[in-house]
Amino acid sequence: MTAESNRAQSEETSFPKSQIRVLLLEGIHPSAQALVREQGFQLEVVSGALSESELVDRIRDIHVLGIRSKTQVTARALAEGRRLLALGAFCIGTNQIDLEAASLSGVAVFNAPFSNTRSVAELVMAEIVALSRKLVDRSQEMHAGRWHKVASSCREIRNKTLGIIGYGHIGTQVGVLAETLGMNVVFYDVVARLPIGNNRPLGSMQELFEASDFVTLHVPQTPETRGLIGARQLEQMKPGSYLLNLSRGTVVDIEALAQALKATHLGGAAVDVFPEEPESNGDGFTSPLRGLRNVILTPHVGGSTEEAQEAIGREVASALVKFVNTGATTGSVNFPEVEPPALHGRHRILNVHQNVPGVLSKINRIVSDVQANIESQILATDPRIGYLVMDLNREVSGEVRANMSRLETSIRTRVLY
Ligand SMILES: NC(=O)c1ccc[n+]([C@@H]2O[C@H](COP(=O)([O-])OP(=O)(O)OC[C@H]3O[C@@H](n4cnc5c(N)ncnc54)[C@H](O)[C@@H]3O)[C@@H](O)[C@H]2O)c1
Repeated sequence: MTAESNRAQSEETSFPKSQIRVLLLEGIHPSAQALVREQGFQLEVVSGALSESELVDRIRDIHVLGIRSKTQVTARALAEGRRLLALGAFCIGTNQIDLEAASLSGVAVFNAPFSNTRSVAELVMAEIVALSRKLVDRSQEMHAGRWHKVASSCREIRNKTLGIIGYGHIGTQVGVLAETLGMNVVFYDVVARLPIGNNRPLGSMQELFEASDFVTLHVPQTPETRGLIGARQLEQMKPGSYLLNLSRGTVVDIEALAQALKATHLGGAAVDVFPEEPESNGDGFTSPLRGLRNVILTPHVGGSTEEAQEAIGREVASALVKFVNTGATTGSVNFPEVEPPALHGRHRILNVHQNVPGVLSKINRIVSDVQANIESQILATDPRIGYLVMDLNREVSGEVRANMSRLETSIRTRVLY
């Protein structure tokens, strides 16, 4: 094959930016649109969600799809997305996406798990003060036309101890903020975590319960954290102390919490997440916590702020743009992680393949057959797929790409240069 025909083929198969088609659904924040436009990609925006059949129609011509939580991306839709390279979930969860089908279709999925960290931490701080000053009760009394000025059992939070269970992204932010308000902070985590400031790790939850005036939960939803806080743990908490749960609804036994509050063992609680949450706004909400004194109930709004929405737009769009431009998969929920260097004039081949033995040697043979030199090669795998990023020093990428695509094990191959 001549250099000229090589060039023609690689032009056919590579992705000039102006030909990248991006479809953003469900009113994704304008911060994402701005980033996509800056890149010179083609952008189409739809304000609502799409049904499966609508998505099947639209997905065929696009390279990048952005959704929030309502559009279901099924295996059927993914099978139609023959050009689809990447999928952005502009939200925290990815339950609405068939991740396995996405992997096996060679589609990298990105989300924004930490864009709302600060929003949650701020609400925790607000609620600690509100619980300590019994603000919700006072406000309800006033709305009911009753003046009830009282100082008894209302306290400053300065010099009180906050116990944080789960010292990850949110837990550490809460620890920083609490310390600036003069609280003593202790934490418990199943993983050894570096304490921030004067935050102090404790060896068990029991030690934390015994030390804390406020206990706040920031663990993930896992089989191990289901019912982490039940009657026994609540009993171990100090009389008159407060529990905050802005993590996941399955972590606390709500019946047991209601009992501890009715028995006035706890001074109050703030709960943002529930074992069963209504689907949409306007739906009814039932809970044994309704109507209890000094209990703040919120409809899973811990991370719901304008700033978080803006950050989600930026974070997911940046990851999508980087993946399209360099092949980087850092932060992807379904692809092995690769962070390749900038291209620097080289040709880069990106290949997603089934993770079976012998693929790499076949690929290397294809490269040596065209006498190209591999400048760098990164292979990352998970049990299902392998993701190979290979930089070549010669303009043979079109031929190599074509031959790699023909391998039975190849799922998706593209060229960047
Ligand atoms: N209310 C909201 O709107 C809202 C918003 C964002 C996140 N969240 C929830 O907040 C929680 C924390 O989020 P994050 O971003 O800080 O997560 P993260 O993964 O950064 O941190 C979780 C921490 O919990 C620790 N952990 C796990 N199991 C534990 C156990 N059994 N005991 C003690 N520690 C344990 C982990 O080691 C980790 O350090 C998650 O459940 C998330 O879904 C809620």
